[in-house]
Amino acid sequence: MTMAPLEDKPVALVTGANQGLGKEVVRQLGRCGMTVYLGSRDMARGAAAAEELAAESPDIVPLRVDVTNAETLALAAETLGARHGRLDVLVANAGVLHRMPALETTAANMMATYDTNVFGVVRTIEAMLPLLRSARHPRVVTLASTSASLALSSDPATMFGRSDTIVAYASSKAAVTMLTVQYANAFRRQAGYAHIKINAATPGHIATGLNDYAGTRTVEQGAAIVLTLATLPDDGPSGGFFNDAGSVPWYRLAGRLKGGVRRSVRSSTAARCGAPPRGSAAG
Ligand SMILES: NC(=O)c1ccc[n+]([C@@H]2O[C@H](COP(=O)([O-])OP(=O)(O)OC[C@H]3O[C@@H](n4cnc5c(N)ncnc54)[C@H](OP(=O)(O)O)[C@@H]3O)[C@@H](O)[C@H]2O)c1
Repeated sequence: MTMAPLEDKPVALVTGANQGLGKEVVRQLGRCGMTVYLGSRDMARGAAAAEELAAESPDIVPLRVDVTNAETLALAAETLGARHGRLDVLVANAGVLHRMPALETTAANMMATYDTNVFGVVRTIEAMLPLLRSARHPRVVTLASTSASLALSSDPATMFGRSDTIVAYASSKAAVTMLTVQYANAFRRQAGYAHIKINAATPGHIATGLNDYAGTRTVEQGAAIVLTLATLPDDGPSGGFFNDAGSVPWYRLAGRLKGGVRRSVRSSTAARCGAPPRGSAAG
């Protein structure tokens, strides 16, 4: 087998990759023949993970990235720029889950979660955007969660519809899906950015430190959709939210609201406030 010259090998960065899903994504991107930067906020743990994976893929390089610290991202971008001049694949994987009973949720809990899960994704994209632009077929994958689906979270028949300790986490992941759509819209419209694809992935309930290994799927299973989105062809989607089975439903279909809920909202509003004046905006 002839190996591609080093400079032709796709270059990938995965944040939060010293353990869990991120580490498995690094392993699989490495197997695809990419040079993979294993982002970790703790350099010793990142180096240990990279060493473990080196037996399978020689081009796995630990890189210090704390997504709550813009300076580490700027330094990481500088390193990637000096070595490769571009970034082909960015997996914004770093994430935290701080459980807290819904009715005790504090702004501090929300801010700590959002700093990593939402602002961390924005900081990462902001730092890496010039390098992504310089790649020929750049792909960005954000890590959302099935708990970010308004449709599933409002269905009591699902585990998400019964959860009441993840106000911060679930809402942060809903923000991730929305920022993914907004970036995709912007990339599509801006000259010089249209070749960048960005999609949100949910790996399903995988057994990792995030959930004290209570998940029912393996990291190998969870990584599959991330790999698919990281290696999309040029006619692939952008701005979507996907799991293994395809698109994840974002919200309830309008049809389900049309009947009872809409009618009862209208009639109770009319009972409290009187009928709306003729010609006022409805619905
Ligand atoms: N597990 C699931 O069922 C599940 C489901 C849906 C989505 N996800 C998402 O998948 C992603 C990976 O989660 P996981 O299950 O693999 O959890 P995990 O094993 O806890 O891994 C999370 C990773 O993020 C890193 N991280 C946390 N804060 C960071 C920061 N400020 N800067 C850089 N890295 C940081 C952690 O580093 P340390 O080791 O230093 O803490 C760790 O490497 C997360 O975004 C998560 O929300 C997971």
